[in-house]
Amino acid sequence: MGSNEQLDRLARKNDQALAGGGEDRMAKQHAAGKLSARERIDRLLDSGTFVELDRFKTHRCVDFGMDAEKIYGDGVVTGHGLVAGRQVFVFAQDFTVFGGSLSLSHAEKICKVMDMAMKVGAPLIGLCDSGGARIQEGVMSLAGYADIFLRNVMASGVIPQITAIMGPSAGGAVYSPALTDWIFMVEKTGYMFITGPEVIKAVTRETVTKEDLGGAMAHNTTSGVAHFAEPDDATCLARIRELLAFLPQNNLETPPCVAATDDPLRRDEALRELVPSDPNKPYDIRELVRSNLDDGYFFEVQALYAPNIVVGFGRLDGATVGIVANQPLSMAGCLDINASLKGARFVRFCDAFNIPLIVYEDVPGFLPGTHQEHGGIIKHGAKLIYAFCEATVPRITVITRKAYGGAYCVMNSRHIRGDLVVGFPTAEIASWAPRAP
Ligand code: HXC
Repeated sequence: MGSNEQLDRLARKNDQALAGGGEDRMAKQHAAGKLSARERIDRLLDSGTFVELDRFKTHRCVDFGMDAEKIYGDGVVTGHGLVAGRQVFVFAQDFTVFGGSLSLSHAEKICKVMDMAMKVGAPLIGLCDSGGARIQEGVMSLAGYADIFLRNVMASGVIPQITAIMGPSAGGAVYSPALTDWIFMVEKTGYMFITGPEVIKAVTRETVTKEDLGGAMAHNTTSGVAHFAEPDDATCLARIRELLAFLPQNNLETPPCVAATDDPLRRDEALRELVPSDPNKPYDIRELVRSNLDDGYFFEVQALYAPNIVVGFGRLDGATVGIVANQPLSMAGCLDINASLKGARFVRFCDAFNIPLIVYEDVPGFLPGTHQEHGGIIKHGAKLIYAFCEATVPRITVITRKAYGGAYCVMNSRHIRGDLVVGFPTAEIASWAPRAP
C-alpha cells in the first residue's frame, strides 16, 4: 500500500471514530437536548487541550454477531486535558454507540485514564450517559465494572473524583458514580436507579416515572445521592470547572490560591443586626457565610438536601475554605440523620484535600423522635463526630447563638480539636435549652 493510500485509510478511520454511532443517532442525541460525548469534553476542557487516548479501540465480543459490529472508540471517549490550565483526566460515554453501554474494552479505556490520573495526581471527571452493562458481553462487562469500582476506591481521598450524570445510569452502573466525591445531574436527561420503573412495577406493583424515581430532583432533594442539579449540559460542565477551581490536584497539595481583591479587614456592620436576640426567631446563616467570604461568594454544595445544615466552598484572602453551618431557617438548625451524613461527608472531603474548615454554629440539638432514633441517628450522628474528631486541617468555629447539648460537642468544639472557637455576643453554650419559668 502506498503512503497516500495509507494516509487516506487513516483519515477515513479517524472520521469514522469521530462520527460515533452515526448521523441519525447523533441527531437523536441532540434532539433529546444532550450534547455528544466529544462536545461535552470540548466544553469541559480549555479550548484545544484535549489529548485523546485509545480512539480506535474496539470491543472483542464475538457473540450475537457482535464481531461484525465494531465502532471505533467502543462508546467512550477518554483522555486528558486542562481546566483553567490544570491537568485533569476525563472519560465521556457516547450514548450513540451501543447506548454508551459498558463492554470490557470500554471499561479498560476508563481504567487506563483512572490509573493515569492516580499516577500523576490529577482529578478524574466521568461524564456518564450509558445503558449500563453491555448486554451482549454478559459477565465480561460485570468484570469491567468491578475493575472500575476498585479504582474508584483506591483513588478516594487521593485525587478528586467528579461524576456528571448526563443520561441514563442504571443497574450496578450507579455504583461507580456513588464511589466518587461529587455527583452532578442534568435535569430531565440524567437519571440513576438500581432497578428501573418496569422492574419496580413487576416486583412491587408500584407505578413511578423514571424522573420521579431517579431524576435530578429525586436525588438532590430526597435521596441525597447527588450534590448538584443543573438545567442543561452546558451549565453542568461550567459548574464542574467552577468546583475544580476550589480543589487541589491531589491530597498532597494545597488548594490553589487566587489573587484576592476583597479587603481581609473589611467590616460588615449589617452583621450586628443579623442574629435575632429572640432565640426562636430564624435567620439565614448564608448571609453571615457570604459576608465572611471573599467578594461575598459562596459555592454551596448539596443545597437541596438536608437544608438544616449548609455546606460548601468559598475563599478567604484568596485561599479555599470549607463551610459547615447550621441553618436556623430550616428545622431551627437541628441536627438529624440527613444533616449528619451530609456534614460528615463534606468534612471528610475537606480533611482529605487540605481544605481548612469554618463552622458556624446555631444548633438547638439533635432532632428528637422515634423516626430519628429508629432510623439510626445514633450511628449517623456518630459519623459527624468522627469526621470532625479525625480532621487535621485548621478548624475554626463561630458560635452565633445556640450551642446546646450533644450538638455543642459535635459541631467542632475545642474538645474534639477545633483550633479556635469564637462567640458572637448572642452566643449561648449550655447542656440543655433554657426553659421559661
Ligand atoms: C447493549 C444497549 C444497552 C445495553 C442500550 N443499548 N442499552 N446495547 N447493552 N445495556 C442500545 C440499544 O439497543 C439501542 O441500539 C441504543 O443503545 C439506544 O437505546 P434505546 O433503547 O433506543 O434508547 P432509549 O429509548 O433512550 O432508552 C435508553 C435505556 C434503554 C433506558 C438505557 O436502552 C435500556 O433500558 N437499556 C437497557 C438497560 C439495562 O438493562 N442495562 C443493564 C443494567 S444491568 P440501536 O442499535 O437501536 O441504536 C447492569 C449491571 C451492572 O448494568 C452491574 C455492575 C455491578
